[in-house]
Amino acid sequence: MSSTAVSRHRFRSRRIEKFTESVIREMTRLAMQYGAINLAQGFPDFPAPAEIKQAAAAAIDADINQYAITWGSRSLRRAIADKYRRTYAMELDPEREITVCCGATEGMIASLLAVIDPGDEIIQFEPFYENYGPDSQLCGAQPRYVKMYAPDFTFDPDELRRAFNSRTKAIIVNSPNNPTGKVFTRAELEYIASLCREFDVLAITDEIYEHIVYDGAAHIPIASLPGMRERSILVNSMSKTYAVTGWRVGWVVAPPDLSDSIRKVHDFLTVGAAAPLQEAGALALSLPDSYYEHLSSDYAARRAHMLETLEMVGIRCVKPRGAYYVMSDISALNFSDDVAFVRHLIEIIGVAAVPGSSFYAQNGGGSQQVRFCFCKKYETLELARRHLLKLNGR
Ligand SMILES: Cc1ncc(COP(=O)(O)O)c(C=O)c1O
Repeated sequence: MSSTAVSRHRFRSRRIEKFTESVIREMTRLAMQYGAINLAQGFPDFPAPAEIKQAAAAAIDADINQYAITWGSRSLRRAIADKYRRTYAMELDPEREITVCCGATEGMIASLLAVIDPGDEIIQFEPFYENYGPDSQLCGAQPRYVKMYAPDFTFDPDELRRAFNSRTKAIIVNSPNNPTGKVFTRAELEYIASLCREFDVLAITDEIYEHIVYDGAAHIPIASLPGMRERSILVNSMSKTYAVTGWRVGWVVAPPDLSDSIRKVHDFLTVGAAAPLQEAGALALSLPDSYYEHLSSDYAARRAHMLETLEMVGIRCVKPRGAYYVMSDISALNFSDDVAFVRHLIEIIGVAAVPGSSFYAQNGGGSQQVRFCFCKKYETLELARRHLLKLNGR
């Protein structure tokens, strides 16, 4: 056996054996290769707010260039605490309950590594944001999927209840939801919370789209429900709310004992998020309510454009109540499956989207669904419309 063959086998950990390339990033790569308009990956192609960019530049200019405190600069943690008081009447101790990290991505994996042991079960709603699978594998957890049923992506309360058992350590709740646009109602969250209390389980919530809600929908952090503070880990970030997905600044809100564990993992994983961008984050989180009102009405208009386009080309979908994606049903278009459809879209039509199956663990799930994102300039959305209309003449 050649030494190369030996090292190939020896140096790939079992932890990552089942990892596949992120389908979303693969679609982005294909989109670049074919010059297709990228409605796959959820990042805005328009500028971030000028005052936030200026704050970042000013922080670098003021030589805030060295490590911040590992769990986050004091100014950002204070701004986060103030914001949760203003928005949700939640009182957070910035010294003991807030950990700043490198985006929600790090917030989620640091939290899971801090609380999950190999063999523990984590409940996840399906379809899901694709990171939760690899996150679970990294901590040796067993995922348990509970379906959200189209068209409105409700879950069956009995099915959810049956997923809880003595091995369940946590449930991940992402609301407003990617990819479905579902915003969990208070009644649904209260039901989840009651199961968490009954089975002694943590609610780990991904609230990254908290301010992107439509038609009067309201975002409610599970942590704000009675009796849930001590069993909730809230993960959030600047990425979507302030259109800065490349800055990698996020945070985790958790009770002091859990924060203590999360901070240990975070410290050894990354030490900390970019110091000058944390300063800009402090300014961002202090923006007035009008910023968030404008954000959701602005995205509502982009959503209307996207929905109109899909209607024009005969792709059915459910109006999302939150986040900036449309999960659509392509069954009327007669493609063998979602992957074949998206390849056609990218290579022939000139638009990239994400095959629905990448949001499902079980075979066959999402095979007639495709996710489009609409966090794009109107000129991008308009161009995408012109390309997608070619589907009509197919
Ligand atoms: C539900 C959800 N969580 C987390 C992330 C990643 O967040 P961050 O950029 O803060 O790491 C995304 C990005 O698309 C997302 O959709």
